[in-house]
Amino acid sequence: MINIHQTYNFARCFLNYKVGHPTPFQVHFEVTDRCNLRCKFCDIWKRKNEEVNLEQAKKIIDNISEAKISIITLTGGEPLLRNDLEDIASYAKSKGMIAQLNTNGTLLTKERVKKIAESFDWVGISLDGLEETHDGIRGIKGTFNKAVKGVKNLNEVKGNCKVAIASVLTKDNYNELIPLFRQAKKLGVDFAYVHPVVEVSFSNPENFGVFPSKRCGVNLVEMNKFIKKLVKEKSKDYGFILVLESFIELMPTFIKGDVPRICDAGKLFLAVNPKGDLFFCPQLIGNNSFKMGSLLKSPLTKILNQKNMKKFMELTKNCRCLSLCTTGTSLTFREPLINLIKQSTKFL
Ligand SMILES: C[S@@+](CC[C@H](N)C(=O)[O-])C[C@H]1O[C@@H](n2cnc3c(N)ncnc32)[C@H](O)[C@@H]1O
Ligand code: SF4
Ligand code: SF4
Repeated sequence: MINIHQTYNFARCFLNYKVGHPTPFQVHFEVTDRCNLRCKFCDIWKRKNEEVNLEQAKKIIDNISEAKISIITLTGGEPLLRNDLEDIASYAKSKGMIAQLNTNGTLLTKERVKKIAESFDWVGISLDGLEETHDGIRGIKGTFNKAVKGVKNLNEVKGNCKVAIASVLTKDNYNELIPLFRQAKKLGVDFAYVHPVVEVSFSNPENFGVFPSKRCGVNLVEMNKFIKKLVKEKSKDYGFILVLESFIELMPTFIKGDVPRICDAGKLFLAVNPKGDLFFCPQLIGNNSFKMGSLLKSPLTKILNQKNMKKFMELTKNCRCLSLCTTGTSLTFREPLINLIKQSTKFL
C-alpha cells in the first residue's frame, strides 16, 4: 500500500512537471552486474563493476532521499544475488521512497519471499512468454518454471506488496503475451507490463537513432494486429495491463524507426550503477562516458548542475528510445491527472 508520504512525493513531482520545473522522480539503482541468467537481449552480466557494500548503499539512498526522489527501483543484474537486498530496500522505504524490485524471479524462494514482500512496495518479475519461449530467451532451461514458482511463493505472502510481471516484446513472443497475461492474472498477479526490446549497446552513441526493427523483427502488419489486441485486452480490465495506451500506440513507430524523441533523462529519472556512479538514464549506464558523478562523493543535486546537464543534453540530442522506465515515465507525467487516477486505482 502506498502511504501518505509516498503519495505526497508523487503529487509534488507531478505538479512540478506540469508547471515546467521537473524534479527527479525515479532512480534506477543497479545493485549488482552479476546475473544467474544469460538472456539473449541483455549484456549487463558482462560488466564488471565493483558493488557498493550495505553501508555505502545506505549513503547513496540518503543522498537520493535528500533530492526528494519518489521511487527507487532496485535492479541489476539479478538483485536477489545480493543477500543484503532486503536491507537496502527497507532502508529506502524508511526514507519515504516507494521501493520497487526488478527480478528474473528464479531466486524468489519460500525462505526469502516474506522479507522481500515486507521490504518492497512492488516486485516486477520478468516473464517473456510461455515455457519454451521464455527459456529460449532467458538462455537457461527451467527458468520459466522457477520464475512461476517465485510468483506463487510471493503471492502467498505478499500482503500490501504489489506483484507484477514484466515482458520484453520481441519477434519470438508477441503471440504469447496476451495468453501469458491471462495466466498471470489467474495466478493472482496484480499487474502486467510490456515494452519492446531496445538495442543492447544503446549506451554506445553510434547506436543512437538505430532502432530494433531487425532485432525485434516483428513484421509491422503483425505488430499492428498485436497492438489492437493489446489495447482491447487492456480495456477489459483497465488497470491490469499497466502500460498507458499512448505508450502502446508508439510501439509500431518505434519498431519502424520513426518514434519521436520523448526524453526526460536527468530531469524525471536517473540511474545509478553498482559502484554508486550517477547516469542520465538506465540505457546509458553501460558507458562510462555518460557518468555524471559519484553519489558517494557529491550530493545528487550538485551533480545535476546546469553545466553537467547541458553537456549530457548535447551528447544525447539524437537519441531516442521506448522503454517503460524512461519514455513510460515521461508519458505518465504528460497525461491528464484524471487518466492517472483511473490507471492507478489498483495501487491504493
Ligand atoms: C536488466 S533486467 C534486471 C532485473 C532482472 N535481472 C530481470 O531480468 O528482471 C531489468 C529489465 O530489463 C529488461 N531488459 C533486459 N534487456 C533488455 C533489452 N535489451 N530491451 C528491453 N528490455 C530489456 C529485462 O527483461 C527486465 O525486465
Ligand atoms: S535481463 Fe535480467 S536476468 Fe536476463 S541477463 Fe539481464 S540481468 Fe540477467
Ligand atoms: S532518449 Fe533519453 S531516456 Fe532514452 S536512452 Fe536516450 S537519453 Fe536515455
